[in-house]
Amino acid sequence: MQIEAKNNRQVFLRRLSSNDLDNLIDYLQNLSVETKKRFGPHNFDKQSVIEFYDFNANLGYVAQTVDTKEIIAYSIIKIGYLEHDAIRLQSYGMTLDIITDCTFAPSVADLWQSCGIGNNLFRFILSDLTTMKIERIILWGGVQMDNEIAVNFYRKNGFKTIGQFAYNGDNYDMIYDIPSTLRKASSVGGITI
Ligand SMILES: CC(C)(COP(=O)(O)OP(=O)(O)OC[C@H]1O[C@@H](n2cnc3c(N)ncnc32)[C@H](O)[C@@H]1OP(=O)(O)O)[C@@H](O)C(=O)NCCC(=O)NCCS
Repeated sequence: MQIEAKNNRQVFLRRLSSNDLDNLIDYLQNLSVETKKRFGPHNFDKQSVIEFYDFNANLGYVAQTVDTKEIIAYSIIKIGYLEHDAIRLQSYGMTLDIITDCTFAPSVADLWQSCGIGNNLFRFILSDLTTMKIERIILWGGVQMDNEIAVNFYRKNGFKTIGQFAYNGDNYDMIYDIPSTLRKASSVGGITI
């Protein structure tokens, strides 16, 4: 799917593929220290990325410039939930489900933040998820309360705060219940890396 960013550049949104590996490593290693502090679902070396996508429940999504083919955003969906977050999420009264829950971690390259890429990539991911059995999106490890852009981004996209916890500062746990009107429900999609 092709979109125009707020800086008027054309950007392509799609699933991550095995051909993206080197570009993805460049993307990850070029993130600023600040962004790396906010986004770290896996290590940023090649072997760690390969191992991460060996696990069928992990799906990657990228935004890529149409002209230079540079990856400018990368988001992860894990089907199910993180064991590490489960006890905390259950303490809010949530019943977790490995089929209908998924866990979301978004990132956008520093120079491209606030250009509308996060919103557009999220909508693209949402439309992909509606072809699966997913009913709810959970934030990967919550969001740091002082990460104003991210908190606004989640709220803007319909996420609700369900709790808060302290870990490297104060954090919110947020979830998005996919409206039943959006869900097309079929089988879980394939992995492309
Ligand atoms: C959080 C992140 C994914 C958002 O993506 P983005 O492309 O920068 O965001 P967008 O430009 O699509 O804007 C999405 C919403 O975020 C908010 N937002 C964006 N830029 C903002 C800014 N400078 N100040 C405050 N809110 C801002 C707005 O609500 C915006 O929606 P609107 O433009 O419709 O009002 C991205 O900034 C990022 O990767 N940040 C670093 C890594 C990170 O924090 N990941 C999340 C960890 S929990």
